[in-house]
Amino acid sequence: MAIVPFRSVLERAWTTADAAERYQLAAWGKGYFTVTPNGHIAVRPEKVEGQEIDLLEVVEELRGRGLAAPLVLRFSNMVTHRLRDMRDAFAAAIAENSYQGRYQAVYPIKVNQQRSVVEEVYRYGSDYGFGLEVGSKPELLAVIAMADDPHPRLIVCNGFKDDDYIKSVILATKLGRAIVPVVEKLDELDLILKHADREGVRPRIGVRVKLASEGAGRWRGSAGAKSKFGLFVGEVLTLFERLRERGLEDCLELVHCHPGSQLHNIRRVKDAIGELAHVYAELVKLGASGLRYLDVGGGLGVDYDGSQTNFPSSMNYTLEEYANEVVYRVASVCAEKEVPHPTIVTESGRALAAYQSLLIVNVVGRSALDGFEVPEDLDEIQAEAEVSQPVLDLIEANRAVSERRAVECYHDAIQAHEQALNLFNLGYLTLMERGLAERLFWKTCSDLRGVARRMPSMPEELQELESVLADIYFCNFSVFQSLPDSWAIDQLFPIVPIHRLDQKPSRLAVLADMTCDSDGKIDRFIHMRDIKMTLPVHDLVAGEDYYLGVFLTGAYQETLGDLHNLFGDTHVVHLGLDESNAWRIEETVEGDTAGEVLSYLQYDADALLARFEASCGRAVQREDLSEEEAERVLAFYRAKLEGYTYLEPGGSS
Ligand SMILES: Cc1ncc(COP(=O)(O)O)c(C=O)c1O
Repeated sequence: MAIVPFRSVLERAWTTADAAERYQLAAWGKGYFTVTPNGHIAVRPEKVEGQEIDLLEVVEELRGRGLAAPLVLRFSNMVTHRLRDMRDAFAAAIAENSYQGRYQAVYPIKVNQQRSVVEEVYRYGSDYGFGLEVGSKPELLAVIAMADDPHPRLIVCNGFKDDDYIKSVILATKLGRAIVPVVEKLDELDLILKHADREGVRPRIGVRVKLASEGAGRWRGSAGAKSKFGLFVGEVLTLFERLRERGLEDCLELVHCHPGSQLHNIRRVKDAIGELAHVYAELVKLGASGLRYLDVGGGLGVDYDGSQTNFPSSMNYTLEEYANEVVYRVASVCAEKEVPHPTIVTESGRALAAYQSLLIVNVVGRSALDGFEVPEDLDEIQAEAEVSQPVLDLIEANRAVSERRAVECYHDAIQAHEQALNLFNLGYLTLMERGLAERLFWKTCSDLRGVARRMPSMPEELQELESVLADIYFCNFSVFQSLPDSWAIDQLFPIVPIHRLDQKPSRLAVLADMTCDSDGKIDRFIHMRDIKMTLPVHDLVAGEDYYLGVFLTGAYQETLGDLHNLFGDTHVVHLGLDESNAWRIEETVEGDTAGEVLSYLQYDADALLARFEASCGRAVQREDLSEEEAERVLAFYRAKLEGYTYLEPGGSS
């Protein structure tokens, strides 16, 4: 009878439920993502069981159509679902607080300006009367053309404004748009009055207030006295006086604040909204008879790590609590000051857009530090008279690895390895010895990790071995292009293999991108109580693709990206479900070609091709290439100018 080791008896088989738990899918996915019985991640755009899109199926189908990873996948019904959640949360809060005013969201398009996203928000927002927010002239030009439905919906115009910006707003007012320029600096008021006068329009005006309550989180500078935007309360009073002098006091319709993005602490929301509500109510009492919107800006967070805590990647409140807090604060200030309840406007962007898209990357290789083997003839090496002391010490440390001496061995190995490197740099160690020292050191580390993992409790000194020995998984994407916030502000995103979740992940890895920059990596991962330095992944199988999904990337990532190393936009594919719940491709936007990214930097693909052709011609004259070879080289160059900027499967034909 075979003897079953004690550990194996205790270890039960790995299930997809274990995978969901390991990657905390339910906590951060909020019902939008699930693991299928065959171990794939599926997206549920409306959180309905059975209405789901298997990501691996999509990736393989797209690859068959010539659209290989990296890919951004977008799920159209998700934004609609988020819009509905927002509406429902505020409807419940309005009912609970017997609030007399309405709720109205405007989508700040800077969060994700892709036409299809903005169109979807606008189209589906029509049932709820939701509008749009812009922060620049190009955004304004897109929106005033698009927003032409018979029942004008609110367009809020933030950001610094010049003469043309204001003129466009006034002309749009003339066209019948419900458009409100928010005064961020007093001289913008002069421009509004000038153009309104010229065009014979009664302007609708908003004002952004510089709140004393500081913002919170990474964008805390968006509020408070030092904020870039808004008027001090004294300036708000000056603005109102100027309007009154012209008999335009009823033109002030909206007061606005933006307490910062990704507010992780509900307290900040309470402080900012309370203060803004007081400003609103006081202005009404001063005679601002047209005031009817209280715009609380953006800031509603996204629980990227699923911990529901006051941590920058999380938030310690729910959408429902947020809605309730906003409505309650405004209602109580209005009751205290005896002014009618305004329409509450939110400019939530991140919370609407983050879930609806994700990035798929393929792993193209790995570097492992636990694969080193030491020579079998260590005894003979040790016996050689001229072997340097650090190498001998490393041999000793390697031999002494045991549970009892684990910590001591680790310290000895580190010290001897350092000494070996120093001696090499001083010229006292041969290249052969350096190579041997390297192998001995890493082999000792991986032996020690094995011992430490079997200990009932791992000594603190040895815990770092997990991250020291982590693999590097090389992933086909650019952090700078596709996850700029990961690089720039250490934003965490949930990352999960999109398949093989019916198998236990056996490796720990950090991820490196394809750029030639050591910053192009991800080595911080979400965790419920902490930040993890490694991601559990599966071993790579030769000849098989391995895909990772980076989730919740729908807000801010796509347009903030840059062209580092000339890696361009990835393919973007919009997906939806049809009546029979089968997924379908709604739209495909192919990623940049090499020729396109070169043209962004003023290279002319035709001119490059002509120069390359001339070089081929000269090579033929020198008889370095035959005519036929020159044709082939030129055809290859031309094809690559039209090719994807990322690594492509299968290489060139
Ligand atoms: C004025 C204004 N409104 C709305 C937003 C959107 O904020 P969020 O995406 O955090 O909801 C921003 C972003 O910072 C903003 O500056």
